[in-house]
Amino acid sequence: MAAMVEVHDLAKAFKGSDGADVFAVQGVQFTIARSEIYSLLGPNGAGKTTTIGMISGLLKPTRGDAVIGGFSITKQAMDAKKLMSVVPQEIALYPTLTARQNLEFFGRIFGLGGAELKKRVDEILEFTDLTDRANEKIEKFSGGMKRRVNIGVGLLNRPQLIYMDEPTVGIDPQNRRRVLDTVLRLRDEMQMTVLYTSHLMEEVQEISDRVAIMDHGKIIAEGTVGQLIQTVGEEDRLIFKVGEQQIDPALLARMQTEIAGVTRAMFDPAEHGEGAGADGAITVYAKRGRSALPPLITMANDANVELFSVEVREPDLEAVFLNMTGRALRD
Ligand SMILES: Nc1ncnc2c1ncn2[C@@H]1O[C@H](COP(=O)(O)OP(=O)(O)OP(=O)(O)O)[C@@H](O)[C@H]1O
Ligand SMILES: [Mg+2]
Repeated sequence: MAAMVEVHDLAKAFKGSDGADVFAVQGVQFTIARSEIYSLLGPNGAGKTTTIGMISGLLKPTRGDAVIGGFSITKQAMDAKKLMSVVPQEIALYPTLTARQNLEFFGRIFGLGGAELKKRVDEILEFTDLTDRANEKIEKFSGGMKRRVNIGVGLLNRPQLIYMDEPTVGIDPQNRRRVLDTVLRLRDEMQMTVLYTSHLMEEVQEISDRVAIMDHGKIIAEGTVGQLIQTVGEEDRLIFKVGEQQIDPALLARMQTEIAGVTRAMFDPAEHGEGAGADGAITVYAKRGRSALPPLITMANDANVELFSVEVREPDLEAVFLNMTGRALRD
């Protein structure tokens, strides 16, 4: 069957403060299969929202096109839009109306009414686990509950495809869990196609069938989580915080040559400024990092290096981003 979404060389330029074109998205290309959860993972300003804007018909591309269920978003916008729904990054609800009233209001905008509207609203309240709070005003809801209503609005038109732009930002872990479960159920119970965006590696890693890592308006890597992680190899990353201490390069060389599994040992004197309050760290890449840990600690002790903390990071999407950009994905 044809793909649900085909994005061809999509680009968007905005006018910068000096009047020159600044490309927020510079030629992205991807395909999303039906009933797939596809994520755009990238830091602030990567171009995720701008991409969603273009493939949902809200923003006119400077270049390129997206084909949604066979319809071009630039040339057959009406047909394409009927298949989709967008859950925006910003909450767009009426605070003084209840959850049910909000859903009914947006349902009428979609042309629903009568028994059909009531049925859909009931289903959505049930699906988003809000039935018992349905008659409370939105202004009394937590951020996480508002997000769930926001998602509910996106389900009113029974879309085949839903875009969810950072739906877990600023909500507590319990509500985040519920949002993630909702996303999985959209795929598993409703066979929907989901485009999900986030700058949080853990959740993208958990829910996505495939991931595109975005940075500065480009997709810099794409694949299943497993495929992406394979690109950085299977080495664990061991991070030893050493504070203001300076580290002798000879110690790093010994770690690298004398301890089984270690491939690289590096020292960064100041993640956050040098001198007093510096947050220096030794980073060691090792196969089977946990077994390399005890001899590394012994070696550091013998060299009179005090270790303030030790962290073992298994290969993850964070490591993929770090490997490709030299920067951490976290803020
Ligand atoms: N209307 C606009 N006019 C000018 N520049 C814009 C406009 N919208 C977005 N940009 C710029 O485009 C770039 C990409 O922004 P975008 O909102 O798509 O990123 P994002 O990946 O969604 O980031 P975030 O995680 O912060 O939501 C940013 O540098 C942003 O400042
Ligand atoms: Mg955004």
